[in-house]
Amino acid sequence: MKTTADIRRDFLEFFRSKGHTVVPSSPLVPGNDKTLLFTNAGMVQFKDVFLGAEKRSYTRAVSSQRCVRAGGKHNDLDQVGYTARHHTFFEMLGNFSFGDYFKQDAIAYAWELLTEVWKLPKERLLVTIYHTDDEAFEIWNKQIGLPPERIIRIGDNKGKPYASDNFWQMADTGPCGPCTEIFYDHGDHIAGGPPGSPDEDGDRYIEIWNNVFMQFDRQPDGSLLPLPAPCVDTGMGLERIAAVLQHVHSNYEIDLFQHLIKAAAAITNTADLEHKSLRVIADHTRACSFLIVDGVLPSNDGRGYVLRRIIRRAIRHFWKLGALSAEGNFWRMAQPLIEAMGEAYPELVEKRTLIERALKAEEAAFAQTLDAGMARLEGYLTQSAGTIDGEQLFQLHDTYGCPPDLILDILREKGLPDVSAEVTAEYERLMEEQRERARKAGKFGGGVAMPAELIAQLTPTDFLGYDRLDADDLEVVALLKGGAPVESIVAGDEAIVILARTPFYAESGGQVGDTGTLAGEGAEFAVTDTQKFAGQFFGHVGTLDAGSLKRGDRLSGQVDGARRGATILNHSATHLLHAALRSVLGTHVTQKGSLVAPDRLRFDFSHFQAVTADELAEIERRVNAEIRANSEAEVHHMGMQEALDFGAMALFGEKYGEHVRVLRMGDTSTELCGGTHVRRTGDIGLFKIVSEGGIQAGVRRIEAVTGQGALDYIAGEERRLDEAADLLGGNPADIGDKLRALLDRQKKLEREIEALKAKAATATVADLAATAADVGGVKVLAARVEGLDAKGLREAVDHLKQQLRDAVVVLAGAADGKVALVAGVSGTALGPVKAGELLAHVAGQIGGKGGGRPDMAQGGGEDGPNLRGALEGVQDWVKGRLACST
Ligand code: ALA
Repeated sequence: MKTTADIRRDFLEFFRSKGHTVVPSSPLVPGNDKTLLFTNAGMVQFKDVFLGAEKRSYTRAVSSQRCVRAGGKHNDLDQVGYTARHHTFFEMLGNFSFGDYFKQDAIAYAWELLTEVWKLPKERLLVTIYHTDDEAFEIWNKQIGLPPERIIRIGDNKGKPYASDNFWQMADTGPCGPCTEIFYDHGDHIAGGPPGSPDEDGDRYIEIWNNVFMQFDRQPDGSLLPLPAPCVDTGMGLERIAAVLQHVHSNYEIDLFQHLIKAAAAITNTADLEHKSLRVIADHTRACSFLIVDGVLPSNDGRGYVLRRIIRRAIRHFWKLGALSAEGNFWRMAQPLIEAMGEAYPELVEKRTLIERALKAEEAAFAQTLDAGMARLEGYLTQSAGTIDGEQLFQLHDTYGCPPDLILDILREKGLPDVSAEVTAEYERLMEEQRERARKAGKFGGGVAMPAELIAQLTPTDFLGYDRLDADDLEVVALLKGGAPVESIVAGDEAIVILARTPFYAESGGQVGDTGTLAGEGAEFAVTDTQKFAGQFFGHVGTLDAGSLKRGDRLSGQVDGARRGATILNHSATHLLHAALRSVLGTHVTQKGSLVAPDRLRFDFSHFQAVTADELAEIERRVNAEIRANSEAEVHHMGMQEALDFGAMALFGEKYGEHVRVLRMGDTSTELCGGTHVRRTGDIGLFKIVSEGGIQAGVRRIEAVTGQGALDYIAGEERRLDEAADLLGGNPADIGDKLRALLDRQKKLEREIEALKAKAATATVADLAATAADVGGVKVLAARVEGLDAKGLREAVDHLKQQLRDAVVVLAGAADGKVALVAGVSGTALGPVKAGELLAHVAGQIGGKGGGRPDMAQGGGEDGPNLRGALEGVQDWVKGRLACST
């Protein structure tokens, strides 16, 4: 039997023999692609190649790409575990042509691999094509020899153009085109109809391979622009083809999944290997582990939130199997996963500790909230006879972290009806509001997009600024105003100037974009920022202060040198900090975010607890030692693989080309980096950490300053210390002693004040008690007292109740225009008079409110002319109550 690993190898080898370059899987977090949550197809890493914005040294490629379809356009999470072939994580085998071969060869290659190499019976195969694609029909029919009844034309859903299973698009925008899908007939013993028939959702005919003929770039307005050249993008689910070749029906029966399912059964002590929960756990193990490997950690929004949902869904299935333990169980799946996939994906082996720690931490956190969430759900269900509404669904999710699919699972299990469409719609609406908040916070917002025609015309900007800050003869190749290309701009215009060559650094790798000026004949453009468009065109963002500019003009550019100079110190220090963090805290530390600005650096990294003061001191010490070592910052250019062999650290979520720039400083730091840096580490001068803290579960943030900034920071601290010493009447050296003495004295004074207050309250009580009126044997007292806060008032009321025995007491204490009210009732007055009601009555007259128990209540209101009357009225009110009760 061919194992899954054999099949993966077969595919890559077959296309290698057809002149394709084998390209490794890219991470699940797409580099520099803001339109996509996760890599969801093999073509994602080639998106810019299809668009013509990036050139590679090959025109044919083949890969086995790790993909996640959970969240975003392609989302399969809810089906996972309940069908034979949906997964959150899967591997997509794909061959690609970038303007090289097209439909004919693509179809011929696919047929050859399936029927000659893998020897699938031809009569079991049938295909679909896009309804208007006669060319594909001809190829299948005439060249391959498929009879017309096994070539099914699929049209657009509800007549919406291009909304078809046979028109593939990666996201709402981007490369797309018609496709032909190859189906395998698992046999008439399984229910289901061919594609396009009413019962196509059955499991008999399974799509195994999609060949997309990429021809268009879909725009945000829905229109299609042609790509520079027709391309091919194919995708075959490794798990599905493995099921076919291993003669099993469900993906979960293939060798790889059986290994994981058996491991999950052992961990949870489950005898029934068919149990759906084991499948869910096996599936989710892969998604979660690979997401963690690729730098995602559980959090409350964005990618981290999707990961959290998947982990929590998995844990919930452990719970279903009765295997929720204090030490957690999910993390134990890392080992069997490594056994099954570690060879093909060495990163799993390297990041094993990170996977285990992240899963363990999330499991511990979830176990706590799950209990609380389940109790709350029970509460909702009793309240409203077995149903919940959208708001409750959202609350369970938002407050208790119980995702709706989990809640719906539980309802299903309890035999309760599914929630209605209105409930899910309301839930979605609330979620959308929350997502909107996240977007506003700048999460997945896109910048100005460059039109594809423009991209196709331009050649990437040549960056001159590694060793110079000014340059002449810089050609204006494009001008953008209001996001659209224009031929010229005039004084006063805000615009983006794209140059063929530039000394301005465009924001990337965390380093902020340069500022400065561009000047031409009579024209002066103030650059306030520099940004990269489509990954390679440098846009100078700013305002034309004088003159006019048109395409083709030649300018001279001058970067603000002081600002850039300060920025590079922070950038180089960031690399040293990264290396020091890994050496002090461990290699699980990876960069989660970075900002390199002129005045400071900010570095976010994965780590599961606060960094201790000792660790921080050690990190700072190591960075400064590297600075004093004054090593040269060496720049090397090499191939990606060579760089990795060289020991360079590549960052997740960053996109690297085939040729990379490697920066090495001293013996500790080697990173892939396109940023600008110091010549020698000594240039940094001094490195000082300013703060450390957590920003989300498992992610910490360090802020630091360097060079003159560090000296300024220290000078500021010294000034504060001097000031403090002055105030304390000493010098900085004995600040500690002085402060301790001061604090001791303050404690003593506080105690004295408390004692005096108590004394004053007793005196007040004695005075007041004498003024109580007698109403039918009950002592009634309502008075304003000075100098007592709410607590003092409560104590005074307690004393008065004891002293007057059968009593009704209301005290008002005023401060800052507000009045605090306390009412107490005791003895025979209890019953006819309720303190809560009395207080509400009094407070109501002074624009306030309050309430409490029958014997004691408190509240407040406004200080003003009404207070007096309100207090005077108490006696009559009490009289009324007492009269009613007799
Ligand atoms: N990109 C195509 C798909 O995902 C091949 O189906």
